Amino acid sequence: MTNKMWGGRFASGPAEIMEEINASIDFDKRLFAQDIAGSKAHCRMLAETGIISGEDAAAILQGLDTIASEIEGGDFTFSRALEDIHMNIEARLAELVGPVAGRLHTARSRNDQVATDFRLYVRDAIDHLDGLLADLQRALAEKALDHAATVMPGFTHLQPAQPVTFGHHYLAYVEMFARDRGRLTDARKRLNESPLGAAALAGTSFAIDREMTAKDLGFDRPMQNSLDAVSDRDFALEVLAAASIAATHLSRMAEEIVVWSTPGFGLITLSDKFTTGSSIMPQKRNPDAAELVRAKTGAVFGAFTQLLIVMKGLPLAYSKDMQEDKVPVFTALDTLSLMLTAMTGMVRDMEPNVQAMRKAAGAGYSTATDLADWLVRELGLPFREAHHVTGEIVAYAEENGLTLARVPLDAMQKAEPRITQDVFSVLSVANSVKSRKSLGGTAPSNVRKLARSWIKRLETDAASG
Ligand code: ARG
Repeated sequence: MTNKMWGGRFASGPAEIMEEINASIDFDKRLFAQDIAGSKAHCRMLAETGIISGEDAAAILQGLDTIASEIEGGDFTFSRALEDIHMNIEARLAELVGPVAGRLHTARSRNDQVATDFRLYVRDAIDHLDGLLADLQRALAEKALDHAATVMPGFTHLQPAQPVTFGHHYLAYVEMFARDRGRLTDARKRLNESPLGAAALAGTSFAIDREMTAKDLGFDRPMQNSLDAVSDRDFALEVLAAASIAATHLSRMAEEIVVWSTPGFGLITLSDKFTTGSSIMPQKRNPDAAELVRAKTGAVFGAFTQLLIVMKGLPLAYSKDMQEDKVPVFTALDTLSLMLTAMTGMVRDMEPNVQAMRKAAGAGYSTATDLADWLVRELGLPFREAHHVTGEIVAYAEENGLTLARVPLDAMQKAEPRITQDVFSVLSVANSVKSRKSLGGTAPSNVRKLARSWIKRLETDAASG
């Protein structure tokens, strides 16, 4: 049987394998709500401009609503022979309202239709992801406030560098996820233009009103060039790029959770809800959720690469290649949403081991910079010289198995005779973090203030929707 939507000039139907490779209904049925919204807007516009009668439009609109409830209720039969969501819906519309259904496709093509549906879908997905990112930020900011003064080792090269607070560390991620939200919001702004009415590629000879359909669908304006409207997927690429960056942030955080929760580090304890045991080693508590967040990043990057490759060789305007835009976008956005939700749960449930953190914070001569800074501030040494003196004191501490705070004053004075008892005031980890009050620094007073301001901002965002 030839295709009833476009088979007029075809003598035979497609080969079985053609149907297999051509059909997108298995994945694009997800676009049903957007497809129906787009069709309704188009139909209303056709009636308003007198291109179809009000009576026909009413029948079509009612039919589309029926189809929406059939699909939502699970009593819609999707057919592969009908290829995609657009033709599945249109065929069902014909069953419901008769030949008048055929008027809906006036001044429209599946090319502008699918571009419209996909933009609407990605726009909704952005809003959903933004909400999940905000939830994660809230969880992090609340933990940060609770632990504004909990001292832990700050690392560079994963070597203890200087003490920081746990709250400060988590607020770093709050900032990163804020930029992820910013990237999605920017992408949303550029995405929010309507391709509907570009028709197949060249526009249409009917006197349609593209402003009207754009407004009806919540777009800011119609796209200005019909070729561009049907043939670019940069909006999807932008979202995948933003998703890849967000996934990178999540993966780094997950990596830290994996490392910090090993007995070797022992800095945090994960809850039972986000760990698993081993079937053979009874002592184990494995950070599976964090490991999976780290690993799922691969699917997000993969999707971004996949769509870049699909698009990069395509001449304008539409090519069927572009049907392959959906799976990577669905995969990446579903994956990111799962990663975000799991991470928020993990963060809410995890407990820092305050004692272990404090102990680790003092290891590795982490207050050496405080000692050097004291030499600069109190004795007026140039920093480079202070660095050298401190190095000698660290070497003494190492030889004698002492922490910096335990090195006797006379040993310090061997390195620099003018050092006084006062130096010990800067050598504790608590004083070290307390002193870092510079803007953006780790001092508990800074952390408390910033955590509170984030919590407030996130509340106001949520209230204003
Ligand atoms: N299922 C198609 C897609 O997703 C719809 C557009 C088909 N257009 C065409 N000219 N064959 O891209």
